Amino acid sequence: SILGLGLEVNVDYVAAVALDLAGRVKVVETRSVATAGQPPSARELVELATDVRTSLIDDGHAVVGATVAVPGLVAHDNRTVSWAPNLGWGGRELAAELEGAFDHACPTTIDNDANCAALAEASHGVATDVQDSLYITGTIGIGAGIVQRGQLLRGGAGFAGEVGHMPIGDPAAVCGCGRLGCWEASVGLRAMLTAVGMEEYATPLQTATAVAERASTDVRVRAALEVLGLDLGRGLATLAAVLDPAAIVLGGYFVPLGEYVVPAASAVLAERIPSADIHLPEIRLSTLGIHAAALGAAEDALADVFSGAASL
Ligand code: BGC
Ligand code: NA
Ligand code: ZN
Repeated sequence: SILGLGLEVNVDYVAAVALDLAGRVKVVETRSVATAGQPPSARELVELATDVRTSLIDDGHAVVGATVAVPGLVAHDNRTVSWAPNLGWGGRELAAELEGAFDHACPTTIDNDANCAALAEASHGVATDVQDSLYITGTIGIGAGIVQRGQLLRGGAGFAGEVGHMPIGDPAAVCGCGRLGCWEASVGLRAMLTAVGMEEYATPLQTATAVAERASTDVRVRAALEVLGLDLGRGLATLAAVLDPAAIVLGGYFVPLGEYVVPAASAVLAERIPSADIHLPEIRLSTLGIHAAALGAAEDALADVFSGAASL
């Protein structure tokens, strides 16, 4: 069948999802990336992408396009990673790199990870019933995909939604972007692990699952997650005041830890947003989980091919 390839590069893992035209998921693969304090190279992504593509072709499928979800600022051309703070990448021509690895037989574009996930949630996740939604990643970095009237809000240079670097976090916490006090330095995956005194596992999902297990028996872990939930809620209240979303979708690690962080976040939201009595955005947990971004990327790859945005 005809397939779109969705790829995701993140700080600690790479992922691939292949999707057919009927919206059926053919392959899902995640590999953890051992970075040992070094910023990840694109090698693991290229290896995963070429392995998955080759095996799909061997199975008789046609891979007509690929989109890569990246944890950073993607220029309007959808080919250049302008800056990915937690990867240490700047001005990187990632689409061209991938196309080279695919022997120029698979047109490739890139987009911000949160944007990709927001699209997936709006098309077949938990935000299909609303026109205005806000997706928040629960990864090492925190990013947003802002959907307004059914369209992604992209901003002047393509960089809208860089909410992880809003200066509303702990003023002493160092962010991957080099600044102090960013929101993600307080509520990102690593900040959460520091708060609960645990370590990172192979994949974000394994990590979050282990934390959830610990939380179920350890009251101190629950208390730390509640504090984090308050910080999360302050950021969400800020964003809700600006954007008035009908639904806020939390993804990534927030999903397995939802019962521990969402009540505190919801309480702050109800207390702090001006419209609370009239209209309170609903906090929902992603059902697409850790693969939301790769899935949205796969949808985007198919859409690009059939809209003629990319040509073979
Ligand atoms: C990046 C965003 C990204 C988010 C989640 C942040 O550090 O600046 O572009 O969406 O992490 O990966
Ligand atoms: Na974004
Ligand atoms: Zn930052």
